[in-house]
Amino acid sequence: MESGFSGRVVNVDKLTYAGNPENLSDIAKWFPGRYVFVKADIGDRDTMARIFSDYDIDTVCHFAAESHVDRSIVGPDAFIQTNIVGTFNLLELARDNEDRLELFHHISTDEVFGSLGQDGFFTEETPYKPNSPYSASKAASDHLVRAYHKTYGLPITVSNCSNNYGPFQFPEKLLPLVILNALEGKPLPVYGDGKHVRDWLYVEDHCRAIWAIMKHGTRGETYNVGGNTEMENIAMVEMICDILDSLQGLKDGRPRRDLITFVKDRPGHDRRYAIDCTKLKQALGWTPHESLESGIVKTIQWYLDNQEWVTRVRSGEYKAWMAEHYG
Ligand code: TYD
Repeated sequence: MESGFSGRVVNVDKLTYAGNPENLSDIAKWFPGRYVFVKADIGDRDTMARIFSDYDIDTVCHFAAESHVDRSIVGPDAFIQTNIVGTFNLLELARDNEDRLELFHHISTDEVFGSLGQDGFFTEETPYKPNSPYSASKAASDHLVRAYHKTYGLPITVSNCSNNYGPFQFPEKLLPLVILNALEGKPLPVYGDGKHVRDWLYVEDHCRAIWAIMKHGTRGETYNVGGNTEMENIAMVEMICDILDSLQGLKDGRPRRDLITFVKDRPGHDRRYAIDCTKLKQALGWTPHESLESGIVKTIQWYLDNQEWVTRVRSGEYKAWMAEHYG
């Protein structure tokens, strides 16, 4: 991706179950001296303060979050700690370093808006109405970021995106989970009646949006980012089945749609998300490059080509690798 950026990036990650520095090994190779990885927890304010000062941080792009709704239902503590307390720590450190702080960009989710009925879209003006511990924690962090702009004049921007997909996604999210189970002929769990609707955003389109907002977005404002690709979960799962069948049929010749298994619904499951990103398009000229079909095909191909990555991430071998490298 062409960015015109010539500075240094310090990537801070706690490396919990889904974090994986191997995902960025190419970046380390391509930009020697300009990419630094630090294993740290944004909940640890002292360590984060040292990072701000050691690396003269002038811009924060805050991706760090617990993000899986199902995990937030069974164990909300980590969501409160990382998403709310962690964001609060970063905001306080940004304020401590306000002389050199150029921007604090916060990456958030459309889930803060709650659930839509059959019609309508989330805009930047939609009232917050989060339904899961995850979305409530992101809503709280959004409010803190906005408040630090209003109260302390911190230069901030916020983006609220729809469901991301693409390479390197941890296989607990719907798309990689279905792709990998379907490859292996395992059941494909679809929650409830499968008619919940999501708007899918290819990860690189999301990254281009974040970069456009960081470079040209108005300080103090929020921007919605979506792929304009609404689809019912069941249709998405069927589409993945059909593409995989055409690329690499199951050994027993069965169509993969036979693997679809309706399972108990998620409590508080939001029915429909759909994003209106007119503001981002009109103000910053952003538009998604990937269609749903092209993005899904690329993603499936990536998982087919990266079976070793999948095995490592799933087998726990990666955990041992992390312990060896990062203690
Ligand atoms: P997910 O990837 O967990 O994202 P989110 O809940 O943040 O939207 O799930 C996307 C949709 O797929 C959501 O409506 C829940 C549904 N889903 C299933 O039907 N089966 C599954 O195994 C998973 C993980 C999700």
